Amino acid sequence: MIRIGMLTSGGDCPGLNAAIRGVARAAYEMFDAEIIGIHDGYRGLIEGDYQEMKRSDFSGILTLGGTILGTARTPFRDMRKIGEDKVDKVAAMKKTYKDLKLDCLVILGGNGTHKTANLLSQEGLNVIGLPKTIDNDLYGTDHCPGFASAAKYIATSCMEVKHDACCYDTGMVTIIEVMGRHAGWLALSAGIAAGATSILVPEIPYDFQRDIVDRMKYTSSLGKHHFIVMVAEGIGDVDQLARDIESATGVETRATVLGHVQRGGSPSMADRMLAAQFGNKA
Ligand code: F6P
Repeated sequence: MIRIGMLTSGGDCPGLNAAIRGVARAAYEMFDAEIIGIHDGYRGLIEGDYQEMKRSDFSGILTLGGTILGTARTPFRDMRKIGEDKVDKVAAMKKTYKDLKLDCLVILGGNGTHKTANLLSQEGLNVIGLPKTIDNDLYGTDHCPGFASAAKYIATSCMEVKHDACCYDTGMVTIIEVMGRHAGWLALSAGIAAGATSILVPEIPYDFQRDIVDRMKYTSSLGKHHFIVMVAEGIGDVDQLARDIESATGVETRATVLGHVQRGGSPSMADRMLAAQFGNKA
């Protein structure tokens, strides 16, 4: 008998359920396994909020967005702090692990999640970390589940906006702001996939005249009259950027902030594959 705890923490993304299912399928095949689903990430581990999972709980979830376990943001920086509730969060998590007689804890998450996973590992718990994030910014990974789905969604949205904007024969600039926190992977990949004229990412400083205005003039001379400017979040105020582009080029410019829709929906084929493989490996 092996008892496996599983939790998802941080912002959700497509592919989490596929990874959860991958872990469960492999565990049930390989061991006499019992799986305990911890609710809402570390909050559930701290408060002892969990459920004994049944094999059937993992059926039909491969293509579902979100996470069947629920998730929450419980910042790493607060883990060792004792708040007004006087709860020692690290001690509480260790107690839940011990009370549940877990042999290991499978933790799915992004950067913050893995900092706490590392802390728990240093505290002596058996921890297996699985990456997930639409930002694709986890150390040691090339691709994280969630990223391909979000990039695909963004590229598709750009095409839809383009169909609308192309109706205007006077031309149009569409600025699309995407997520990614401090990383430009989403903007870069989706921007290439959508044929953006300019892509602004936090890792590379840009020059307004050279990288936007001159690029537009050049592609305009080739007959193009719709321009996508893909912008990673944190680059600056996209409405101001729209005003600047419009006054520098004379072309009507609109900004769209895609927001949380990027994280929703069914995982792409690539993410289903990757999440299933990660789950199996875990
Ligand atoms: O880390 C994933 C992410 O979606 C980032 O791209 C974004 O900056 C952030 O989470 C948004 O966080 P929240 O869902 O808490 O608004």
